[in-house]
Amino acid sequence: MGAPFRLGWFGNLTAPEWRDGWSTDDALTWSDGRFYVEMVQAMERAGFDFMMLEDSLMVSDIYAGTAELELKHAVYAPKLDPVPVISMLAYATEHIGIVGTASTTFYPPYLLARAFSTLDHVTRGRVGWNVVTSSEDRAAQNFGMEKIPEHDRRYDVAGEFVDVVRKLWDSWAPDAIVADPVTGYYADHTKVAPIHHEGEFFTVRGPLNTPRGPQGRPVVCQAGASPKGREFAAKNADMLLTIPNGLDGMKEYRDDIRARAAAHGRDPDEIKVFFVVEPVVGRTDAEAWAKHEEYLGHAQRNYEFQMVNFAATMEIDFSVFDPDLPIPEDVTTNGHQGQFAIWKEAFGGKPIKEAAGAMRIGSIELVGSPATIADRMEEAMEHVGGDGFMFLSQPPSRAYIADITEGLCPELQRRGLIRTGFSHATFRENLRSF
Ligand SMILES: Cc1cc2nc3c(=O)[nH]c(=O)nc-3n(C[C@H](O)[C@H](O)[C@H](O)COP(=O)(O)O)c2cc1C
Repeated sequence: MGAPFRLGWFGNLTAPEWRDGWSTDDALTWSDGRFYVEMVQAMERAGFDFMMLEDSLMVSDIYAGTAELELKHAVYAPKLDPVPVISMLAYATEHIGIVGTASTTFYPPYLLARAFSTLDHVTRGRVGWNVVTSSEDRAAQNFGMEKIPEHDRRYDVAGEFVDVVRKLWDSWAPDAIVADPVTGYYADHTKVAPIHHEGEFFTVRGPLNTPRGPQGRPVVCQAGASPKGREFAAKNADMLLTIPNGLDGMKEYRDDIRARAAAHGRDPDEIKVFFVVEPVVGRTDAEAWAKHEEYLGHAQRNYEFQMVNFAATMEIDFSVFDPDLPIPEDVTTNGHQGQFAIWKEAFGGKPIKEAAGAMRIGSIELVGSPATIADRMEEAMEHVGGDGFMFLSQPPSRAYIADITEGLCPELQRRGLIRTGFSHATFRENLRSF
């Protein structure tokens, strides 16, 4: 038996599946949050460590200068703000970690520290913050800027931002609240201190007006892929999300992050790396491959979806390129640089339309029965060294969630590969428990 690993889910708070004729009215009612409540409950039952909620702050019209395909496919919009939704998901669950995305380019650090400290309380210590720097001019234009700041500079700002947020989270000592009926003191003012931060980008006095949460510092999640991003992650993150290509790419990424973490004086085992995959599960291998074939049959839809996906996150308008040729060599991005390099590699020099039409996002292809996929996951973890996977499905559906939580996960649990329960109260403790 292989060593146990962990599962997370990449959640988009966007419209669930509406195109396949199996949908209920979820596609219209998802924005009341209940679809996602039921989804996170299914995940908790099935042995997931966390659900992550991605975010961005714009309606993208980069592809061909119009939001038509973005809205047609509901790629990144419409969507909900993850921060308030975390409360709802936490109230409906007991143990699973919930990670919300928030941007260091647009939030002021005080508000971010306060929001996530509040969430740490109301989740009873189960919240994580996915630190992103954002990458879109269209988002910047919603905050009074013309362009998003340059890639490496965004990470410089993010570094100081995270320092400030940590200082604010630490501005209340763990024993600051005494609630002593004898002395009449609720909080001890000697244990609540201003931070007096004056840095290159931020000036923040503190202290926070929210007391220290159960985790003290919520779990820090990150998805840096560029050298600057990896360095940031290795210094700051408790967990990482990533989509390198293939087993060797996965191993290279994890080894690199662990080496960088050690160079920062950290124990590499404190950092858990999650590889994005999109398993296609059937009762039999044949059933799973039939589902995969059906997906490939939607080549035009898949192509349009990926074009908007790339345009939104990398702000490259692929409509100006010939779809029957490979991605031109000289195209660069100020957006997700590491990710762009990986996508280019995944295209493998194939014509854009052909590659995008057949593309699934994920580090390795997982198609088969629960037993077949469990074998592959086990082998992958052995090759890579460990930690876990994050499942992605854009858009999700109840049928797909059931394939995972009622088909694949029980097989993984029977093999002792994923958790069957939670031994600790907080997300960080559970993350580090094996
Ligand atoms: C699995 C995964 C999830 C991500 N989620 C978000 C997100 O919700 N919002 C966002 O702005 N960026 C997101 N990113 C982008 C990363 O924060 C990062 O910018 C990207 O991986 C490229 O790395 P680099 O910034 O080091 O070039 C995500 C990346 C990955 C791989």
